[in-house]
Amino acid sequence: MNVVVARVADIATDIRSFELAPLDGGPLPEYAPGAHIDVHLPNGLVRQYSLCGRREDSGAYLIAVQRGSASRGGSHAMHALRAGDALRIEGPRNHFPLDVTATHSILFAGGIGITPLLAMAEALAARHASLDLHYCVRERSRAAFLERLDALALRAHVTLHVDSEPGKPALNVSRVSGEPAPGRHLYVCGPAGFMTHVISIAQQAGWDDALVHREYFNAPVAGKSAEADEAFVVRLVKSGRAIPVAASQTVVEALAAQGVRIDTSCEQGVCGTCLTRVLAGQPDHRDLFLTDAERTRNDQFLPCCSRSRTPELVLDL
Ligand code: FES
Repeated sequence: MNVVVARVADIATDIRSFELAPLDGGPLPEYAPGAHIDVHLPNGLVRQYSLCGRREDSGAYLIAVQRGSASRGGSHAMHALRAGDALRIEGPRNHFPLDVTATHSILFAGGIGITPLLAMAEALAARHASLDLHYCVRERSRAAFLERLDALALRAHVTLHVDSEPGKPALNVSRVSGEPAPGRHLYVCGPAGFMTHVISIAQQAGWDDALVHREYFNAPVAGKSAEADEAFVVRLVKSGRAIPVAASQTVVEALAAQGVRIDTSCEQGVCGTCLTRVLAGQPDHRDLFLTDAERTRNDQFLPCCSRSRTPELVLDL
């Protein structure tokens, strides 16, 4: 789908919002809170950004992008866009759905991780559902969407935690989460360290993995693995073909070299687009998409980044 950048606005330190309108004027597909789009950037990269517009703002998609110092080029390319630039987008897709049947939802946003959670909080508030949103930022100037968070329907449910402001208690995840119980859901989005912190405290407190919903917006910048990767074979059960995966290749690359195409988007184990069923063998999970419980089942993996612990992996392809 082709869109045009209709409006660019600086909404916090290093954070810009972009309104994307359809190029042909036709309506954009609807989406639910938590959904993201894939943006094909002029430099060839594809990046995922959560949709954070208001329900009533139809006719354009709103995304917000933080310029990252550890960026692999995505956020810098986004920040170079100007109103009037054309872009290709795909989606929306939603791997971070909101459970609107929850009795209580606790949302943890770290930095730019506010984007999907803002849309969720507004949707919950519109339904008069029980919710708390904890939004953590390093400095107040880095907090985006404060006006929307201060709207009458949301204000009482939002706590802003600012690292640099003395005298304010830091976020105590275990205290604000309370006891796990059926119907209570946690949602977390933000930098990897923030997510690990929230998720590990929830796990220690006995929260069921299925009730701790998470969305990583970027894989950590990978260092070279100390352990050299090894070659293995993937067997495609529908054709019976056995395709070798060299130590230097991803499964997606090895399959593509043999004419087998798997849809990909982020190519860093974040978005879930390449999710593939595993029928035998043990994947070496390297993604940030699956939960621990899903990994343990060994029945699916992300071939854009994950590998195999067994000499052969049998795939449902
Ligand atoms: Fe995004 Fe594989 S392409 S997880």
